[in-house]
Amino acid sequence: MKTAIGVDLGTYAIKCVEVQRVGSNLQVVKAVSVPNPVGTVIPAQQKDRDTLISTLKQIFKEYKFPPQNIRIGLPESLVSTKIISIPSLSDAELASAIGWQAEQYIPIPAEDLQLEYQVLYRPPKQHVSELMRVLLLGTSKKTVAAFSSIYADAQLEVVSMETQMLALYRLMSMDTANTTTLVVLFGASSMDMLTVHNKELAFVYSSPNAGTVLSRAVERTLGLDASQSESYKRTYGLDPAQLEGKVAQALAPVFQASLVEIQKAMQYFAGSHQGSVIKRIMFAGGSASLSNLIPTVAQAIPAEVTLLNPFAYVPLAQGMNIAELDIPSYSIAVSLAAGGVS
Ligand SMILES: Nc1ncnc2c1ncn2[C@@H]1O[C@H](COP(=O)(O)OP(=O)(O)OP(=O)(O)O)[C@@H](O)[C@H]1O
Ligand SMILES: [Mg+2]
Repeated sequence: MKTAIGVDLGTYAIKCVEVQRVGSNLQVVKAVSVPNPVGTVIPAQQKDRDTLISTLKQIFKEYKFPPQNIRIGLPESLVSTKIISIPSLSDAELASAIGWQAEQYIPIPAEDLQLEYQVLYRPPKQHVSELMRVLLLGTSKKTVAAFSSIYADAQLEVVSMETQMLALYRLMSMDTANTTTLVVLFGASSMDMLTVHNKELAFVYSSPNAGTVLSRAVERTLGLDASQSESYKRTYGLDPAQLEGKVAQALAPVFQASLVEIQKAMQYFAGSHQGSVIKRIMFAGGSASLSNLIPTVAQAIPAEVTLLNPFAYVPLAQGMNIAELDIPSYSIAVSLAAGGVS
């Protein structure tokens, strides 16, 4: 039996998941979500940093997560992700050309750049005019060091760090359907999107509007305090039949902006993939639980719209239960952990 822990430290909540592999089967044996008490992932103040560290320590202790084989997600805001198309190169040629390619596409100075890349598609040799596609992932060494030092100071031994988009892509590669899909990770501080086309990661895109901005809209429009507006948002969401539609109306302009971002992503995809269209939109992240989200999106966009259920890919161990509303928020943590045992 092999076990791994995935930790998805978000600005709103810290999600920790333990996945075990027994034979060839993976299963989730523990899943916990705890509010992030400081609302940020790289605190500028020492006091907040200490609070975050002791919260991480406390989660591991209280829920008895083994403190090894820990896999963490990098917040998308720290990562610059690009998919480039270039003339086909061998692995060796690519290794020597990649730094120069990255310089053109990734806005991080070379001396601070930590670069990873992955060949997504290499055309067969006889297709000389076809381009190869390479995924570039750039991070700032300094920022990543600041982020990972939080775990080190919590005495947690991190064995791998992965971007959230790659984690989502892993989950999607467990999906048996070969449907061109846009996955929307709708969290608290950002809405990150990726598309999977012919089982390949086709593009990624980030937009800053998500759950926090939605809560603020309720706060401002209805004159409520932060905790009231959070609970109004959760209770009534986008449902026009609730509370005379007041919350839905307060959320509408901000949510509309997110819909526009989704539509832009779909248009961009169609434009860059010779008219292929996105047939399915899957929502992950805590804000995916917004009441009436799925019908609202389905009404605006001609695609199949569903929630992403990570436990459909990595099932819960017998006897485990997760409240329906919390399911989409575990997507990243489940995939991070699954990556450590597959
Ligand atoms: N039932 C619900 N209805 C509406 N919104 C919800 C619900 N449950 C959670 N949320 C929202 O989901 C967000 C938290 O989601 P998530 O845990 O994915 O964020 P995070 O990973 O901490 O944030 P980020 O990655 O953006 O920094 C919060 O904005 C919260 O208000
Ligand atoms: Mg998140």
